[in-house]
Order: sequence, then structure tokens, then C-alpha cells
Amino acid sequence: MNPGSSETTLATSIFDIASSFCSIQDVDTLLTHITSAVERLTASEAASILLLDESKKQLVFRAATGEKGSAMKKFYVPVGKGIAGWVAEHGEAVIINDVQSDTRFTGQIDKSSGFSTRSIMAIPMKADGELIGVCEALNKVNGSYTEADRQILADLAKLAAATIVNAKRVEDHKNFFTHMIDLLTVAVEGVDSSLTGHSYRVAELSCQIGKAMGIEGASYRDLYYGAILHDLGRITIHDLRYLPNVLNQTIERTPEKLHPLVGSELVKDIRLLSSIAPIIRHHHEYVDGSGHPDGLVGEDIPLAARIICLAEHVDELHFGGVMAADYIQQARKLAEEGSGTKFDPEVVKVFLTVWGAPSA
Ligand SMILES: [Fe+2]
Ligand SMILES: [Fe+2]
Repeated sequence: MNPGSSETTLATSIFDIASSFCSIQDVDTLLTHITSAVERLTASEAASILLLDESKKQLVFRAATGEKGSAMKKFYVPVGKGIAGWVAEHGEAVIINDVQSDTRFTGQIDKSSGFSTRSIMAIPMKADGELIGVCEALNKVNGSYTEADRQILADLAKLAAATIVNAKRVEDHKNFFTHMIDLLTVAVEGVDSSLTGHSYRVAELSCQIGKAMGIEGASYRDLYYGAILHDLGRITIHDLRYLPNVLNQTIERTPEKLHPLVGSELVKDIRLLSSIAPIIRHHHEYVDGSGHPDGLVGEDIPLAARIICLAEHVDELHFGGVMAADYIQQARKLAEEGSGTKFDPEVVKVFLTVWGAPSA
């Protein structure tokens, strides 16, 4: 490969795009990079990526360059119609250097968009053997599209397919994670009707306090998930067969004493949640060392656990009945009375600011 050759330029472009997988999370930005590379490296006036909507049997423009690029996203091509539709239907690449002489060219998109297609090169995009879309280059600036151009388009189409598949996997993971958290929360709250809404309220108050204390990034995420799942252990306190670390401990076998230990054991091996295991384990510790399970003192207790401890006590004022008319005063009194013994005085101070005294 000679420096400055078209092979080197292609390799550099593909390397740049592949590198950006790590830094660019947004799939549309990545696809725009890829279509720009198609346009540049095949010396075309425009390039586009169309994704298959299987349910509607049509291709939808997802990224497009060229002067009409931004307008293209509202258009779609039925599978089997036009050149992109033919490529999708047959799963074969095409090079057409004079579209007017090709009966597959309908001109529909040109009519609607104002673009004028002279030549086109299109290739199916596949993932695991299944069609996911079509990648195309339009209007070779000088001369005709060649086999070398087709190879460039094929390489970039593979990158586009990988981008789309990767984005879908990330989406699927996010979707699974979010719904699993909801499902676990429902399971916890289903143990006892007095717990209804408890997890989300504790998370909301914990995050209010955490934000006011300047907690951010990964620590803020841990605070949120730690708070949502702080009572997770309540789902299985009567069956400890699969939790030998808890089973072998000589502690009082009450739900109150067991649930922080059980909850932390349940999440500690889940990579996305392992950082909240200590938060769950210590959310019943008190700063004077009188809490459980480890009798930790002051700052030895994770900050998130100190925040959740206060939020949990505040929310437990709801238990056993409707919210009292003087709930806020009761919560403030509870926080002030426990400051320095149960609760971290700094956390109490911030809580009293966040939940200011109601005006008389
Ligand atoms: Fe708890
Ligand atoms: Fe709780």
C-alpha cells in the first residue's frame, strides 16, 4: 500500500470511523461519518443509508449527504420499487452508470426531493445474513462507477451495518436493564403492601439530597440505583439456600437484620450493579456505630448509604397510613433529632435545606 494511494485513504477513513465507535455514542453521527466517507472515497455527489422497516416492507432514509441530504429523511422506498428497493429485494449490489436507460429507475425520489440522479451504485447491508438496509452512492463526479468503487462501498456498508447492530445491542441492553430494575422494584414492593411506592420515593429524596451535595457522574448513578434497590433483600429473606455468605453468619434472622445483607449479596456479582452492593449492605448503619450489619461509624459508611438511611427513615413516616398533614414538619424533626447519632449531620443539614420548613 503506497502512502497517499486510494487504498491508504480508504484504510485511513475506515480506521477513523472504526475508532470513532469508541468515542461517538450517537448512531446518527456515526452513520453521517460513513455516508460522508462513501461520498468522498467514491468521488460521488451524494451518498445515503436506507434502513429496512421490516413491518412496512420499506426502506427509510437514515443518513444522507449532498445538497438535498437533510430533506431526504422524510422519504421512503418500498421494497421491490426503484433501484434501492430492487437491491433490498434481490440482496445484490448494482452499478448503473446511466439511470435513464434502466427500467428499475422510477425517478420518484428525484421528483419529490429535487435531486437529479444520473448514476447510482447501491449495495445491500446485512447483519448475520439478514438484510438491514441499503447503502448507496449517487452521481459519480467524473466518469463511471467501477469495481474498485463497489469494493469501497462494500467495506463502508459493512461498517454501517456494524454501527446499526451495535446501536441496537446497546438499546436492547438499556431496555433490559431498565425493565429489570422496574421488575425487581415491583417484586420488593409486592412483599408488603406498606412498601408500595417506597423504593421510588426513597430514590427521589436521596437524589434530591445527593444533587444538592454535588454528587454527580458514576456516584450519582450508584446513589440512584442503590436507593431504588436498597430493600431488594426483602424478596428472599426466608430462603437463603443460595446465599451461603448470609446463611453462615450468626445474626438475628429477622427481615430487618437480614435484608441489607441479602440485597448486597444478590447484586454483588452483577457487573452493572456491583458498585451498589456496599451501599445496600450499609444503608442501615448509623453514624454513631449503633446500626447494622457491621456497626460502621461516620465516614466509614458510604456516603450514598448515609443519604439513603435518612431518606428511608423519612419515607417510613408514610408506613401504616396516609401521609400526615404535618408530614414535612415530622420529617424535619426526625432528621434533626437523629443528627449525629443515626444520621450524618451534613446529610441532615442538606435535607433540611432541600425540604425547607413549610410557611405557616
Ligand atoms: Fe432497608
Ligand atoms: Fe427501605
